[in-house]
Amino acid sequence: MKKSVLVLGLAALFLTSCGDKKKEEVKKEVETVVEEVKTETVVGDNLALGEKLFMGKTCSTCHNPDMKIIGPSIKDMNKVYAEQNGDMIKFLKGEAEAIVDTDPGQIAIMKANLDGFVKDMSDDELAAIVAYMKSVK
Ligand code: HEC
Repeated sequence: MKKSVLVLGLAALFLTSCGDKKKEEVKKEVETVVEEVKTETVVGDNLALGEKLFMGKTCSTCHNPDMKIIGPSIKDMNKVYAEQNGDMIKFLKGEAEAIVDTDPGQIAIMKANLDGFVKDMSDDELAAIVAYMKSVK
């Protein structure tokens, strides 16, 4: 008698934990979908913010998508960063050396921006600007 109660108890425990698992799985699926939708909107917003900053913070005065003006074109920068697996955010934070144009005069021009106003930009703003540059294909 005692034994069957124990068995029943275990079965009940097993069943409820099974039910919980199903619920967990459904919850996870819903969360994944919500997460995907969120990421999409965030990425869209991020690109719009990045483009706005790139234009508004004068980056576009020296960087054109296709042509070298004063600084290298966005496409050339993307190419070198992709080839060398560089980290643009680190460069903009002054934590990594220039890898696109290593001419000292050119580096000084960009460095003046980094020390002048880029240092006051938030991590989110820098991430947005880099996301925008990388979206230029
Ligand atoms: C006054 C002109 C000027 C402005 C404004 C300017 N840049 Fe530059 N930038 C340069 C020059 C010149 C170089 C080439 C030297 C170098 O590569 O560091 C450069 C290089 C770069 C590089 C490549 C660095 C490397 O690894 O060689 C990135 C990334 C970059 N700029 C991003 C930006 C962003 C983002 C902004 C706006 C916040 C900006 N630049 C504003 C002139 C400018």
